[in-house]
Amino acid sequence: MSSARGPRAQTRYVCQACAAEQLRWEGQCRACGAWNSLVETPVERPRRHASAGPASSARPIALRDVADSDAVRRPIGIGEIDRVLGGGLVPGSVVLVGGEPGIGKSTLVLQAAAGIAAAGGTVLYATGEESAAQVRLRASRLGLLETPAGERIALLADSEIGRIVEAARASRPDVLIVDSIQTATLDELAGPAGSVGQVRESTLRLMEIAKGEGVATILVGHVTKDGSLAGPKALEHLVDAVLTLEGERYAAFRLLRAVKNRYGSTDEVGVFEMGEHGLAAVADPARAFFAQDGGAPGSVVAPGSVVAPTLEGTRPLLVEVQALVAPGGYGAPRRTATGLDANRLDLLVAVLARRAGVGLGSHDVYASLAGGLRVDEPALDLAVAAALTSSLRDRPIDRDTVAIGEVGLLGELRPVAGLERRLREAARLGFRCAVVPRGGRADGDAALGIETIRVGSLREALGRLVGAPVERAGHRPVGSADPSAAERW
Ligand code: TYD
Ligand code: MG
Repeated sequence: MSSARGPRAQTRYVCQACAAEQLRWEGQCRACGAWNSLVETPVERPRRHASAGPASSARPIALRDVADSDAVRRPIGIGEIDRVLGGGLVPGSVVLVGGEPGIGKSTLVLQAAAGIAAAGGTVLYATGEESAAQVRLRASRLGLLETPAGERIALLADSEIGRIVEAARASRPDVLIVDSIQTATLDELAGPAGSVGQVRESTLRLMEIAKGEGVATILVGHVTKDGSLAGPKALEHLVDAVLTLEGERYAAFRLLRAVKNRYGSTDEVGVFEMGEHGLAAVADPARAFFAQDGGAPGSVVAPGSVVAPTLEGTRPLLVEVQALVAPGGYGAPRRTATGLDANRLDLLVAVLARRAGVGLGSHDVYASLAGGLRVDEPALDLAVAAALTSSLRDRPIDRDTVAIGEVGLLGELRPVAGLERRLREAARLGFRCAVVPRGGRADGDAALGIETIRVGSLREALGRLVGAPVERAGHRPVGSADPSAAERW
């Protein structure tokens, strides 16, 4: 191992915190004391190619003469991907596609390659993770081999960035795909593939050719279970856009989100279903996240479930929140959240007990979203609280009703953004009633095609959704938002 870590003539270890240079890798920077901050870096970075492409001219240009990136955007032809990219790939941009192993990144980028080729573009697909034969196998599964466009996709089974860049310079593809950046290496660096130095330097090298030659570049990157991109976080700062592919490995749905996008909004999501022939756009994403046994309006459901109209960017998605409250055993009760923020669940359990008379006490509590979706918006609070209460009381919530609203520490219900859009979507899917926070304009509700019940407090909302609290005879009449009675608990 000592030879791999030893000093090489052409590399140094540069501290990412203070920029001090050392000859050897050490756990701590000698200059500033930062831990794990030393990154292997070539001493002389290869000069940017002055002769490369039109974009690299050092001559200033008038602002209004700068090429409009929208005008040159290259649509991939797969609506859900284009939507997230903001309309397509911009030449010269570098896009990182992250996701857990096995989630479908390679499938996604291969389908994107096919889309680009079908539109007349050329693609160079460098695979360091799989052999060319494996990629071919996937392509045949996706039905790409029969299409004539397949000829415009060139495969390079290599992970050495120098050779990949060389191949890209020679063939000048419209789009370069590197799968994955964690397997990429540079021959002149000693660190192993996936090390901070290798990943960073490889990315910089690829960015050089992307910007210099106007090649749109897609990098595939692995994300660890805790959600961080393996390798340096710094990678996310380097690239132009970061997309993540999420979902539960054993559930079919996949969400493609932009966490960063220099060329578009980060609000959009693409919704796919992994099937026999790769990722297919979900025809009606708004209803994709109902449980299998029919979360549709009107169906009979067990207690502990309610549908909430969430908003992913500008796209309304109706998700089914499920909860199970069960008598706990010895020790601290379990609180388990799947697809939801665990801290938020703890908070809701506390607010339910103190402000709404729903004491979950020593019960074990499980809450999850159907379909493997992950939603972080606080607007989901009311639905989670209602599902918990419904499970505890063993009273189902009316299937025609949706619930949305953020819950405050005082047990008040706070307004949510985009209420009208959410309600429209719920109405479109056949829901007839919505319990929503008070405030905003109530007069226009009729036009939305759904009855809205506007409430001011969690207690009141639960009264409407789940029925009267058992602890107190007769639930508080609608309109009474006085929380003082609840505070005596
Ligand atoms: P893959 O794209 O290899 O994931 P990643 O590159 O993120 O590691 O695909 C992962 C899974 O998708 C794999 O277990 C098989 C499955 N799959 C399908 O279900 N249908 C398909 O058509 C393809 C190509 C893959
Ligand atoms: Mg892969």
